[in-house]
Amino acid sequence: MITTSARPDAIENASRDEISALQLDRLRWSLQHAYDNVPHYRSSFRSAGVHPADLTELSDLARFPFTTKSDLRQNYPFGMFAVSHDRVSRIHASSGTTGQPTVVGYTSNDLENWANLVARSLRAAGVRAGDKVHVAYGYGLFTGGLGAHYGAERLGATVIPMSGGMTGRQVQLIQDFRPDAIMVTPSYMLTIIDAMVAKGIDPSSTSLRTGVFGAEPWTEQIRTEIEQQLGMQAVDIYGLSEVMGPGVAQECVETKDGLHIWEDHFYPEVIDPVTGEVLPDGQEGELVFTSLTKEALPIIRYRTRDLTRLLTGTARSMRRMQKVIGRTDDMIILRGVNLFPTQIEELILTVPALAPQFQCILDRPGRLDTLTVSVEARTDTSMAARSAAAAQLQTLVKNRIGVTVAVDVVDPNSIERSIGKARRLIDIRPDK
Ligand code: DLL
Repeated sequence: MITTSARPDAIENASRDEISALQLDRLRWSLQHAYDNVPHYRSSFRSAGVHPADLTELSDLARFPFTTKSDLRQNYPFGMFAVSHDRVSRIHASSGTTGQPTVVGYTSNDLENWANLVARSLRAAGVRAGDKVHVAYGYGLFTGGLGAHYGAERLGATVIPMSGGMTGRQVQLIQDFRPDAIMVTPSYMLTIIDAMVAKGIDPSSTSLRTGVFGAEPWTEQIRTEIEQQLGMQAVDIYGLSEVMGPGVAQECVETKDGLHIWEDHFYPEVIDPVTGEVLPDGQEGELVFTSLTKEALPIIRYRTRDLTRLLTGTARSMRRMQKVIGRTDDMIILRGVNLFPTQIEELILTVPALAPQFQCILDRPGRLDTLTVSVEARTDTSMAARSAAAAQLQTLVKNRIGVTVAVDVVDPNSIERSIGKARRLIDIRPDK
C-alpha cells in the first residue's frame, strides 16, 4: 500500500502509556521468538539465568544479556536467523573493515515494516507523495540504497536510483531531472556540492528542497553549511543494518532537534559503555536497541557503539536521540583526553578560511600518541593565511577540548573525497 497522507501515523503521537503498552506486548513476543528459534539467544539467556517469561515490565529488559557485533560474526553467516531460509526474502551485509561481514536477513513482513518506517521517516523530513527523490546512498549489500528506495516508493514518491559514485553524473542528473529531495551521506553531499561549483553551477540554484542525510555522524555546523549552500532543509536519518537499516530514527523538519526513534518497532536504552548499567534518559552513553517486530533477525539489546542520549519527544511523542557524537571505535584518547572527529569538525567550521574536508591522523612517532588534523583551505590562499588559520584551529582545539594537536592546512581538493561514509580517522600508530 502506498502511504500518500502527509499526516503522521497515529502511533507516532500516541500517549506514552499507549506506546509503553505496545512495547511491552511486542517485547514479550520478540524475546520469546529469539529464545525459541535462535540457539545463540537460548544459550545466552540461560547463562544469564533469565527466561523470556521473566519480563513483566519494560525495565526487566536490563536483566537480559547484550548482543554484540562479535556474536553476529561468530554465527556467520546465518546462525542468528530465527526463521527457515524459505522465509527469508532478502539479505544485506555490512562491509566491516576487518574480518567477516555482518549478515542480516528480512522476511517479507520485515521488508514491509522497513518500507513503512522509511516512508514515515521521509514524511517527517517533509518529503511528500509526488516528490522526486534522488537516492545516492549505495545500492547493494549496504542497506542505505535499497532501504531508502523502497521507503520512498512506499511514500508515493518518484525514485531516482542513482546509488553512490560517478559524481559528474550525479550533478548532471540533479540538473536534468530536478529532484525535490536527496538521500545521501552528508560527506558525499559535500563532494557533490564541490563538483557543482567546479562546473560553474550555483548549488543554491538546484531544485533540491530537502536533504535526508545519515549513515555517518555529522554536526550542526555541517547542517548549516549544506543548508546555506543548497538553500534546502537538511535533516538527519539514523539506522544500522543489525537493527534494520536506515529509518530506525528520524529528525522532523519542523523541529530539527534530534531524531525521533520509531519506538513501536525498536526499544532503545542508553548504557554506560564500561559497566553496562542502564542510564536514565538525558545521560550520555552507548545506544542499545532491541527489535520489537523483526522476524528473520530478532536482535536483543544490541550494542551499537554509538554515543548519544535519549530525550523526551517534541514533534512526536516518541523519544528522541540526540545527534550521534561518534562511535566508541572512533574515540581518540590523546594524553588522557577523549575526543571525536565530530568535535574537530565543529571547530573547523568556525574558521572561515577552512573547508569541511578533513582527516584526523593518529600516530606514535616516539612514546606518545600525536594527532594531526589535515584540513583543506577553502581557496588557494597565501601561506601566511594558511598558517594563521592553522594557528586559529589549534588554539580552538586547545581551549575547547583541552589537547594540543598539529594542524596541517592543505590545498583545496587534496583530501580524498567520500562517495559514501567518510573516513575521518586514520590510525597509523605502529602496533596499536
Ligand atoms: O549506515 C544505515 C543507514 C543508511 C543509515 C543510510 C542512514 C542512512 P550500517 O552500514 O550498518 O548502516 O552502519 C551503521 O552508521 O551504527 C552509526 O555508527 C552510523 N550511522 C548511521 N546513521 C547515522 C547518523 C547504515 N544519522 C552505523 N548519524 C551506525 C551518525 C550514523 N551515525
